[in-house]
Amino acid sequence: MAIIEPVKQNPLHPSQTRQYSLSIRLWHWLNLLVISGSLVTILINSTLMDRKATSSVIVEQAAKAEASISADAAGQIAHELEDNVWSIHAYIGFALVALLLWRIIYEIISPTSQSLFRKVSVARLALKNGSEEARLARHELVVKVLYFAFYLVLILMGITGLTLYFKHNLGLDRSVSHSIQEFHGFCMYLVILFIVVHVAGVILAERRQSPGIVSDMINGGGH
Ligand code: HEM
Ligand code: HEM
Repeated sequence: MAIIEPVKQNPLHPSQTRQYSLSIRLWHWLNLLVISGSLVTILINSTLMDRKATSSVIVEQAAKAEASISADAAGQIAHELEDNVWSIHAYIGFALVALLLWRIIYEIISPTSQSLFRKVSVARLALKNGSEEARLARHELVVKVLYFAFYLVLILMGITGLTLYFKHNLGLDRSVSHSIQEFHGFCMYLVILFIVVHVAGVILAERRQSPGIVSDMINGGGH
């Protein structure tokens, strides 16, 4: 599979930037899969594998089988089960970091028409032009800057996630790793916020000014 493929485009017209290379499309849908997987692991740990609920199920089931287990031991088992899910979360996290590196490398080696930096500077230039073009450019600029912000959050997620995974190797203090974990958890809300705004924005764009935009993200566009 070719990593870089030529894409036809008018670089001076920001409203015509809806041609997505195979690399971007593949990256986009794999990223969607991986982030969804990551969010599912969190959902599992905060519902099905909730430590309190799981340990009371263990105690109940032991009582039914006429065995006895202390609350501490049940809590320990629940903790282990929860940790198994966190391990899956971390493996998915490694895939996310790999995808992020791919996206960063692609930004560096991609044809200029596909570069996010380039799209931002083209939109900034077009802002100075006539009123209709300026309106389109303003919208384009807001959307692309939102992508930048999202990439920044993903980078923070990656760095804090890896730090948490390797906290013992790094010899991190308990309080430091706790703060990092809280920050990592907080970033999740930014990721969710981005997804909600992004999907709503894409649906609106599909219905209004950019019909076919989702199909372009699947088929490449520019036909
Ligand atoms: C976890 C969910 C999702 C994430 C994290 C995500 C992330 C992104 C990112 C970062 C970009 C910018 C790509 C770039 O140019 O660098 C993008 C573009 C795009 N995404 Fe998503 N996406 C998600 C879900 C979806 C879904 C469900 C759809 C379809 C309904 C969709 C449709 C699109 C389209 C059409 C674009 C191109 C928009 C444009 O040209 O500005 N995305 N997405
Ligand atoms: C979209 C991406 C991600 C989301 C939404 C996410 C979300 C979360 C959340 C909510 C927690 C629990 C924090 C807390 O208990 O306060 C967590 C923990 C963790 N995450 Fe992520 N994360 C993501 C990416 C990553 C990545 C890239 C890695 C890197 C390997 C990673 C590794 C970890 C680890 C090791 C923990 C600690 C689990 C434990 O308590 O043992 N995460 N993550």
